[in-house]
Amino acid sequence: MQIFHSISAIQNHLKSLVRQGKTVGFVPTMGALHAGHLALVETAKTNNDIAVCSIFVNPTQFNNAHDLAVYPRTLESDAQLLETVNCDFIFAPNAEEMYPDLPNLKFDFGDLERVMEGEFRPGHFNGVGIVVAKLFHIIKPDRAYFGQKDLQQCAVVRRLIHDLSFDLELIICPTHRETDGLAMSSRNRNLTEEQRNLAPNLYKTMNLAKEKLLAGESVQVVKMFVQKTLSDIQGIDLEYFELSNLDNLKPINEYISGKTAFCIAAFLGKTRLIDNLIF
Ligand code: PAF
Repeated sequence: MQIFHSISAIQNHLKSLVRQGKTVGFVPTMGALHAGHLALVETAKTNNDIAVCSIFVNPTQFNNAHDLAVYPRTLESDAQLLETVNCDFIFAPNAEEMYPDLPNLKFDFGDLERVMEGEFRPGHFNGVGIVVAKLFHIIKPDRAYFGQKDLQQCAVVRRLIHDLSFDLELIICPTHRETDGLAMSSRNRNLTEEQRNLAPNLYKTMNLAKEKLLAGESVQVVKMFVQKTLSDIQGIDLEYFELSNLDNLKPINEYISGKTAFCIAAFLGKTRLIDNLIF
């Protein structure tokens, strides 16, 4: 496995491999890797000749300075983990390499910007759009792998690929969970022991809400149930719980079989976690 820090070095290297007919699977990450990321890389490696993983904590997608400051940076141990899943190349640029000048370009993802992550993290998807577009231009993958945990990000990337005619296939892989149901996330490392014990309540409550909805409770009652359940748990501060149409992530007022997603975001102390459930 080789680590590249410069754009031109990885581009030149990949160009010669692509000329030999090799296909490239790409997993963009911000590092602090967990089993969910490793599963994405394993899938990329199984379905392509070459697996590339990028590790870059992208400043333009953080709307909260504290979140950016405490985001774990663990390149050395990430590289060791990536070796275990036969990743071929890591692309780990620094901020100057990616942004010699801060881009004036702005992405607006329309309705996707106005709900959930778009609403509560203004500018977040602009930053995601810019960095993912740059990474796609640099790596030129045949396939790009993203995790379902970031459901709205997946929708934004799908839109980006469509609108800018990127010639690649988007593969969304299932969320990896700890044994107690907590969705794996790099941010879980920032939880205290007490917060870590509370965190599975997000997934647990969504599952209870799902049972209620399927038993015929109204969306309004189900939403109230989630708000009440989580507000009763000291240490969890619910930011949003939404029922969304899986196709466009617009809020819905009734259950659509196979196309309903519960989406949730909550603070545990200063750590913000998101999760979703599709059914
Ligand atoms: O999901 C992430 O880790 C990031 O948003 C991504 C896609 C690597 C862009 O910085």
